[in-house]
Amino acid sequence: MATQTTPPSQSNVIGRSVARIDGPLKTTGTAQYAADFHFPNMAHAVPVQSTIASGRIEKLDAAAAQSMPGVLLVLHHGNMDKLYRVVPNDFSATTSEARPPFEDRTIYYWGQYVAVVVAETLEQATAAAAAVKVEYSQTPAKLSTNLGDYAGKRPSVSQRGDAEKAFAAAPIKVDQTYVTPAETHNPIEMHATVAAWEGDSVTLYETSQGVVNHRYAMAQVLGIPRENVTVVTRFLGSGFGGKLFPWPHSALAAVASRRLQRPVKLSVNRTMMFSNVGHRPLCEQRFQLGATTDGKLLSLRQDYINHTSLIDDIDEGCGEATTYLYSVPSLTVTRALAQRNVGTPSPMRGPGAVPGLFAMESAMDELAVALNMDPVELRLRNDATKDESNGQPFSSRHLKECIETGAAKFGWKQRTPAVGSMRRDGRVLGWGMAAASWGAYRFPCAATVALEVDGRVTVRCATQDVGTGTYTIFAQVLQEKTGLPFERIGVHLGDTSMPEGPMSGGSWATASVLPAVSSAADSVVKTLLQVANSTAGSPFAGVDPAKLQLTAGRVHQAGEPAETGVPFEKLIAMARLSRISADGNTTAIFEDPKAKGLSLHSFGAQFVEVEWEPQIARLRVSRVVTVIDGGRIINPKAAANQIKGAVVMGVGMGLLEQTVYDPRTGQPINGNMADYLMATCPDTPEIDVTFLDYPDLAMGEYGARGIGEIGLAGVAPAIASAVYHATGVRVRTLPVRIEDLLQSRIREA
Ligand code: MOS
Repeated sequence: MATQTTPPSQSNVIGRSVARIDGPLKTTGTAQYAADFHFPNMAHAVPVQSTIASGRIEKLDAAAAQSMPGVLLVLHHGNMDKLYRVVPNDFSATTSEARPPFEDRTIYYWGQYVAVVVAETLEQATAAAAAVKVEYSQTPAKLSTNLGDYAGKRPSVSQRGDAEKAFAAAPIKVDQTYVTPAETHNPIEMHATVAAWEGDSVTLYETSQGVVNHRYAMAQVLGIPRENVTVVTRFLGSGFGGKLFPWPHSALAAVASRRLQRPVKLSVNRTMMFSNVGHRPLCEQRFQLGATTDGKLLSLRQDYINHTSLIDDIDEGCGEATTYLYSVPSLTVTRALAQRNVGTPSPMRGPGAVPGLFAMESAMDELAVALNMDPVELRLRNDATKDESNGQPFSSRHLKECIETGAAKFGWKQRTPAVGSMRRDGRVLGWGMAAASWGAYRFPCAATVALEVDGRVTVRCATQDVGTGTYTIFAQVLQEKTGLPFERIGVHLGDTSMPEGPMSGGSWATASVLPAVSSAADSVVKTLLQVANSTAGSPFAGVDPAKLQLTAGRVHQAGEPAETGVPFEKLIAMARLSRISADGNTTAIFEDPKAKGLSLHSFGAQFVEVEWEPQIARLRVSRVVTVIDGGRIINPKAAANQIKGAVVMGVGMGLLEQTVYDPRTGQPINGNMADYLMATCPDTPEIDVTFLDYPDLAMGEYGARGIGEIGLAGVAPAIASAVYHATGVRVRTLPVRIEDLLQSRIREA
């Protein structure tokens, strides 16, 4: 698939590095995020959180709070409006927690909302929320972080051959257990809802990765028709999966606003961010690899378990990447869930694949050590030529090239395999690598493109820009099709009154929006040329539209320079139209004959260098080379930005991030930005990003697969393997901590 040609282009803007068109709005503070919406007469809601993790509300006394200055309303289980659940397993209307807020008196996790106080000001609501008295009866909370004592069922995820038998007979074996901790999404923009009713319709200003789903879900929760719910998300300060589906605070704001007949704002604070709006669950994975003495995989078994809440069964899906990444005749993957008194987990960047790959790629590195084989060589030797989980060919797979390119760029040939054998500037160096993959998806999308009488081209779509450049992608396609400069292109997203677009999740937004906006743009241009042909007074009246074209915003005869033509807005005015608009659609990839029977995935390779200073126990990731096979790259600047951000997140996953629940109370004890460690600028290594840029035409005419999550996949295991190479300590429980490394026998640099 390496030689596919790119579609015809008049501006070459597809595949070019374009700065985000919404950048100036953000840097000038003009972009409105959810909590930035203010309305006259707006009231403020502050939730009251449970101080226990398991039990029951025996008594809730709101009298004191109710009588405090400015207090308008205290809602709780005893006086809450009736709320409803959404239909289970309906992917078009999903909530994060199945249980609506205040549904019963039961406490399932620390921090659960037990009441909400609404007052004239935020300060008044905050003060009164602290005055709500709640008496609980407690039951023992399940908070153990040990998932190893699980004795229940382990349903099969994937199965081929006989992994048991093949493992038993294999001459070389790895059998290890890997743990990835709970991690909390920490987007800069915290969750917030501003709810405003007008009659029996409500507008919810949200920070949502999926406004359409949010609308459908909240209509069900509130028990009103979906036409009566509008969801607006103009900008997001990211989400990382935590904002895919509505959380209970959205319903609290909506109910409070309906009761008071006033707009109500509810901002989730950083403490609540750690307990009430999802997290990556704690996962434990046993990996058994069997191989021949020359490094050919014979068997792979992965048994994973993740914690979930008592309310929802959330499967982390750690087998996502396991079944197709390598060629292995016998394979078994099983899953299991362990209920804990924690909030409901949610997808977090590369859900399943990212923790799964930590375990699998760590195990592969251990296998390389056991074989005394180069880890790059081991991967190349086990490359898969088809998806062995289902026999399907890959639509476009260049993992081998990712690994070889990465190795060359990193200088891997210079690696000496012995632990602690590499030095630079008084530091021990460790070099590690890992492969990466992530599924490719495309979901339905509708978009409306219009050529306006004022000379602008606009597009409307109810998707949203999570911060990654979605506005810019739309603008690039419109520039491609019309030749107009960005100043004359208007992109309108994030409002459910527009045609329905996809979620910003799973790295699928770009692939999902491209066909819809492209076909809508083609349609308007076609109509414009017909108008040019049929409008009295048009210089092209009677000219075959097939002989006309639109270049740089001007209609002209094909073969003539654009300057000889007429600005399209003149023709629109001549025809007495306000605009020429058309709709375009994207179908789901599952319904596309071109993608039928193909295994669609992105691939990548991560190469990591760590510097270890044993005398002072200082560890730093100093260099990362990442090579991504993500299909055609529409905007290399935005794409590289995604990958770099993901790599930094990977440094956090490898070395820092872990949500710690107090074993007595279930409270996230590091639930703030001081105690929850994340990678920041000083932790950021030198990052080299390469895109292979092979269009995957099974995904659509542009061949884009998706970028973002793949950048995080493989980083943590490459770090752990580099740490092993530097120190001789194999860390199988993330994050890698200095305490783990004190046992290193490498004493000096
Ligand atoms: Mo991503 S975890 O699907 O936002």
